Formats: sequence, structure tokens, C-alpha cells
Amino acid sequence: MQNSYHVAMADLPPVEADGSSRDPGVLDGLLRAAVEVDNRAWREVFGHDDFTNIPEAYLQSLAQQQNARKRLLLALTGPVFASGQEAGLPLLQPHDDPGDAVVVGTCMIMQSRHDNLHLLDGFEVTVDPDHRRRGVGTMLVRAVETVARDWGVDTLISWGTHENGEGRDDALHPKEGAFSIARDVPALFALRHGFSLAQCERHSVQRVHGTQVSVPHLPHGYELVQWINETPEELLEAKARLNLAMSTDVPKGELELEDEVWTADRVASSERDTYRNWMGLSTAARQVESGELAGYTNIRQRPQLPAVAWQEVTIVLASHRGHGLGELMKAANLEWLRRQWPGTERVHTWNAGENQWMLAINDRLGYQVASVGGAWQKKL
Ligand SMILES: CC(C)(COP(=O)(O)OP(=O)(O)OC[C@H]1O[C@@H](n2cnc3c(N)ncnc32)[C@H](O)[C@@H]1OP(=O)(O)O)[C@@H](O)C(=O)NCCC(=O)NCCS
Repeated sequence: MQNSYHVAMADLPPVEADGSSRDPGVLDGLLRAAVEVDNRAWREVFGHDDFTNIPEAYLQSLAQQQNARKRLLLALTGPVFASGQEAGLPLLQPHDDPGDAVVVGTCMIMQSRHDNLHLLDGFEVTVDPDHRRRGVGTMLVRAVETVARDWGVDTLISWGTHENGEGRDDALHPKEGAFSIARDVPALFALRHGFSLAQCERHSVQRVHGTQVSVPHLPHGYELVQWINETPEELLEAKARLNLAMSTDVPKGELELEDEVWTADRVASSERDTYRNWMGLSTAARQVESGELAGYTNIRQRPQLPAVAWQEVTIVLASHRGHGLGELMKAANLEWLRRQWPGTERVHTWNAGENQWMLAINDRLGYQVASVGGAWQKKL
């Protein structure tokens, strides 16, 4: 029998100041089913479970909306049963009766509350393999556009994971950068919906145990500072400056990204959210004479997935470049990771295809290409 489908939206009430939260009712089961759909898709795309979502962490992250407005779009079988409405879409309520509706597709959308208000960035449409080629992905994209218009947004950026386009006659190339992607299913889907390829990112993996990495000598006049999880309070202002530089200095391809607005308070609050579900190791370089933080790098891990880590931000302020600080901080952080989290086997990272300096550092640190990320942009 041919299924009928619809898209509904889910929002979780925020956790109260005293740590309590309202009973999510049926939302709990629906959201856990959505995590399963995502996890199956990630396993299919990558062939491993390194990017598996942890349901509790996912639900908590949806409820944390101090720094970003978030909604989860769910593609469901059968007719609409949600009793609420928001932005012209059915809004699921804790007491709704889903009957035998099944979650067959998902898409999380986020809008920063601080900057880039013109933008929904980083959404990914996922459809369960048993329900593909029936227009479910298309329904989700249309729902994203409906919400975007309601929120006053005119720019959409979605990320896809692709086969490397290298050596293929019909590869798709962004305007800049060394990487291209194959004309695979996610690419055809994005093109069909009017998105254009604005940038490629290289996704690469470092095998922690097989890689020989020596930490270079500290250049004269600098020292290393390291911390676990949240940035120490006395470094929050400096971290805000570095996060701003991260938004202004990294290559953006054709992505219409504005400079981000960072304050010490925003750093503290977003890190509080992050480290409810992650662990982090940060290594920074400080200029001894001025006391200025010249740069930092950060690796994260989920407590539930001790074999896997993520190499996140690495930034060096322009006035401190040319001393090898980027590579030094990364190598020192990796050495620390080996001691601190000895069960770590793989580190994943993503870098803009035009960021030849960072890609060269990663090559020296033993990273190997795993896939290519495509940043798909659409102007409404
Ligand atoms: C990409 C994905 C979301 C598509 O979902 P879907 O429900 O099958 O998509 P739709 O049925 O709405 O297809 C819409 C259009 O996309 C294109 N498309 C989708 N799947 C395709 C395929 N296997 N081969 C060729 N074109 C395809 C077609 O143009 C299709 O229109 P058509 O059916 O009229 O020809 C789904 O394959 C998926 O979840 N993949 C894994 C996650 C992912 O890569 N997400 C995309 C990030 S950019």
C-alpha cells in the first residue's frame, strides 16, 4: 500500500532554571524515533557508527535554545494529528495521539540568536531508505522554506556528505578550492531544489595510534595553556576575540556568512550547553609579554563514544601567524589526548577546500581524506 506522508514540527520546552523540565509526553518517543532515522542514514552514508547520535544528548540539545532558535521537522506517515500550529506547519504537542504514525524523515533547523539572522545554516534532510523517491525529502525542504519565510530568513545553507569528485568527468566544482564532489544522490537532490554548491570541505580522519607526531619547539616568547571542557573565566574575553576571528578569517567560498558577534557571556553560555554532552581538550598559545592569547585549538569527544574524537576549531590571530603556532597547538593537543583519552582511535575533522595552510598541517599530522562535504546554498 502506498503511504501518505506529512511534515510536522517539534519543539521541546526549555529546561527550567531549577533543572526541571515539562513532561515531553509523546514527543519523547517521536524524537527518539527521529534519532534512529538519522543514525541509520549516517551509518549508510559513512559505513560506520562514529557519528551516531545519543538520544538523550540530542533531546537536550534541542531544548537548549538560549543561543539559537531550534525546531525539528519530522516527516510522518499518515494524516496530520498534531493539535498545535506554528509558522504555518502542524506543531506536535506532548498530549497528541500519533496512532500508528511512523517517523520516516527528519531535518533539524537552527537560527542563531546573535548574528546571521538572515540565515538557516547547517540543516540536513534525512529520509529513511524504505521511504525514498516518494517526495518525502521534497516535503521536508518545502517545510524548511516555509519556516524560513516565517522567521524572516532569506538564505538557506545545507550540508551534504559526498563521494570525492576527483577523477570524475561530471564532478561538480565550487568556484574556489581544491575539492569537488560526485554527482551523487545528495547532490542531485540539492540541485533539484535550487541549491548551488557554494563550498567544499575536506573531511579527513587521523588514526591516533598509527600516527607518529612530534610536537615542535615553542617559538620564543610564547607559552601553552591547556584546559578541559569550559574555558577558564579569565580567558573568556580572549576566547570571544578568537571566535570572532574564526568567523572572519576562515575561507567561506560563496557562502553568505556575516561576521559573528561574540561576547564572554556568549562563550560561557554556549560552552555550558556543549559540555553537558561532550568532553573537550583545548590547547592555546599565549604571548608571554603581552599576555594575549594568540590562538587555540579544540578536540571534543562524547563520553559514550570513547574511540572517536572530533578536531574542531583551530585559529591563530593574524598578528601571530608565521611562527608555526597552529601546528604546534594541534600536535600538543593530540599528545594530550593520547594521555587523557587513551581509548581514542580516530579523530575526524573538516576543513574548507581552499584552506591550503590548514590542509597542509593536517597532512603532516597524518590525516587522510574520508569524504567531501558540500555546502549547498539557496537564496529565497
Ligand atoms: C537525499 C535524500 C534526502 C532524498 O530524499 P527522498 O525522499 O528520496 O527525495 P525525493 O523523493 O523528494 O526526491 C526529490 C528529487 O531528488 C532527486 N533524487 C532523489 N533521489 C534520487 C536518486 N536516488 N537518484 C537520482 N535523483 C534522485 C530527484 O531529482 C528527485 O525528484 P524526482 O523523484 O521527481 O526525480 C535521501 O536520499 C537521503 O536521506 N539521503 C541520505 C542523507 C543525505 O544525503 N541528505 C541530503 C543532504 S544534501
